[in-house]
Amino acid sequence: AQIHDQKLVRGNGGELHQAAEGETPILTTAQGGPVADDQNSLRVGARGPLLVDDFHFREKIFHFDHERIPERVVHARGYGAHGFFETYESLAAYTRADLFQRAGEKTPAFVRFSTVAGNKGSFDLARDVRGFAVKLYTQEGNWDLVGNNIPVFFIQDAIKFPDMVHAVKQEPDRAFPQAQSAHDNFWDFISLTPESMHMIMWVMSDRAIPRSFRFMEGFGVHTFRLVNAKGESTFVKFHWKPKLGLQSVAWNEAVKINGADPDYHRRDLWNAIQAGNFPEWELCLQLFDQDFADSFDFDILDPTKIIPEEVLPAKPVGRLVLDRMPENFFAETEQVAFMTQNVPPGIDFSNDPLLQGRNFSYLDTQLKRLGSPNFTHIPINAPKCPFHHFQQDGHMAMRNPVGRANYQPNSWGEGPRESPVAGFPHFLAEERGQKVRLRPESFADHYSQARQFYISQTPAEQRHIAAALTFELSKVETPVIRERVVSHLMNIDETLANTVGEKLGFQSMPKPADAAMPTRQDLEPSPALSIVER
Ligand code: HEM
Repeated sequence: AQIHDQKLVRGNGGELHQAAEGETPILTTAQGGPVADDQNSLRVGARGPLLVDDFHFREKIFHFDHERIPERVVHARGYGAHGFFETYESLAAYTRADLFQRAGEKTPAFVRFSTVAGNKGSFDLARDVRGFAVKLYTQEGNWDLVGNNIPVFFIQDAIKFPDMVHAVKQEPDRAFPQAQSAHDNFWDFISLTPESMHMIMWVMSDRAIPRSFRFMEGFGVHTFRLVNAKGESTFVKFHWKPKLGLQSVAWNEAVKINGADPDYHRRDLWNAIQAGNFPEWELCLQLFDQDFADSFDFDILDPTKIIPEEVLPAKPVGRLVLDRMPENFFAETEQVAFMTQNVPPGIDFSNDPLLQGRNFSYLDTQLKRLGSPNFTHIPINAPKCPFHHFQQDGHMAMRNPVGRANYQPNSWGEGPRESPVAGFPHFLAEERGQKVRLRPESFADHYSQARQFYISQTPAEQRHIAAALTFELSKVETPVIRERVVSHLMNIDETLANTVGEKLGFQSMPKPADAAMPTRQDLEPSPALSIVER
């Protein structure tokens, strides 16, 4: 960095300060008024009280007092970068989305990586899921693919999300642990939620301690749909594959790095991009139809399941390159607002009950966090294509409709009109029937894919999973919770269960867990435990 010599002048008290000269701009208030002295408040005499007249003092302190906004309720700690997405070939056969029509098409992108559980000031190398949220500024509006570095999730229905997040974050009475899952509340919830077992295998694996953001995969997790110009729909799973490959650190390395450099992942991304080593990922698609979906025992709407790539390879369709750091962390990385419901025509949702719930949650949370329905006026969130609507007013309105008409239809010939051709098509609902609250039978197998994942790991990776489970459960103080978790492991892999049970000092092994969700009756002997409804 260049060090500039500054002109120094003496203030009223004789102290030296820097003064504007030549090309150095004059310091002003937010209202643009030039400031003569930024070192001393206005006061009565040399040792008297400060004066309310000092509008510069009041504005400066007032603004400082209001600098903080709420941190994200989850994924609070994150780091972002700008770049672009480049389409390899036309995907017009599958989707009408403009960004996929032409080979070589480049779409501007902003990506934010994050940990899930820790607070904003927590350390980077926690054992945790990593967020991988991508905003693509397409010519048909923003497309947010708000994914993670693990292809499945803890729960099958968004109504469980507040419970899951409450359980993983710091316990409400003691306010710790701040950034790790090794505690009773988390494992209590997990032990009572068999649907989380597949995710738990991933989270206890090396995937949850990535070497850096540049060596991680990303996944859209849910099944989405692509829709072409004829209205034909294809199911799709989205994968981001890092050009550098996958790498993790070992747990003992993670523990040391967290102590020595809590910003390890941030620093890595900053240094790589500043040095011109632009990280790159390929977008790969698993595309399939209804018949293929029906060929599985599990449900493709269940976000705790993957479609193995051995069965259905993921087709590379483009690349994402990150080549520029934000100029300002708060303005861009903190204020960016990702929302799963941001999709362009040609990309659509499936009936995955987790995805559908997310489509409500993200809009709602942005209002709380950013404070105004006009958060789309913040440059990082604004579309980069032409846009016209009649939304107006509200806090911090930067762009109101111009002219007389702020409604439609109108007789003034003013303002935008809808376009059935350019806009979203409508689908018939796939399901009809009574309003019900239930989990379908097709969502009931919680262990097969957990086992499949465990078996797919190398012996060293399997040892890491056993060690992670042992470490985590050794921090759990309530014996019945440890036993319940191990009883689930019995359904995944008996050797794994025995290894963990032995290291935890179990005298005898528990019976394999009942796969069904616990009922009120099952829980009766432990009235202190929360109750999960069937
Ligand atoms: C934030 C991913 C499930 C609610 C995030 C972020 C990611 C993410 C990557 C951080 C976005 C950023 O960097 O700004 C996922 C994935 C999920 C999932 C992959 C499951 C497949 C859910 C569910 C809900 C939810 C079920 C609620 C029903 C939220 C909220 C935020 C968030 C409220 C904070 C957003 C903000 O303040 O900007 N999620 N999430 N998520 N997620 Fe999720």
